[in-house]
Amino acid sequence: MKWYKIPGIQITGKPFIAKVKVGRKNICLIGYEERIYALSSVCPHAGADLSEGLCVKGKIVCPYHRYTYDVKTGKGGAGQNDFVETYPVEIRGNEIYVGIISLWDKLRGK
Ligand code: FES
Repeated sequence: MKWYKIPGIQITGKPFIAKVKVGRKNICLIGYEERIYALSSVCPHAGADLSEGLCVKGKIVCPYHRYTYDVKTGKGGAGQNDFVETYPVEIRGNEIYVGIISLWDKLRGK
């Protein structure tokens, strides 16, 4: 897994939603209940940008058709039968890092 430092976001403990580029991926970074979560910013339903949605009770709400995804697990809401990819987040000092596993590492089971 490779860890990427995320520039330009202050850790304040306040809720936020931001779109960041991590490697080649567009990530939706969500500050919720004083923790930070990272999800793919691409909605699996029809490709909307989840970082333009809302976070309500621990779920990101897609701005297009209001599908919801748990910010911790990426699991879609009841009846959706889908999920959005999640990524690990580490706080090192005052810096945010997001971990990405390459396809190669996935294939090797790492
Ligand atoms: S594109 Fe996200 S719910 Fe349809």
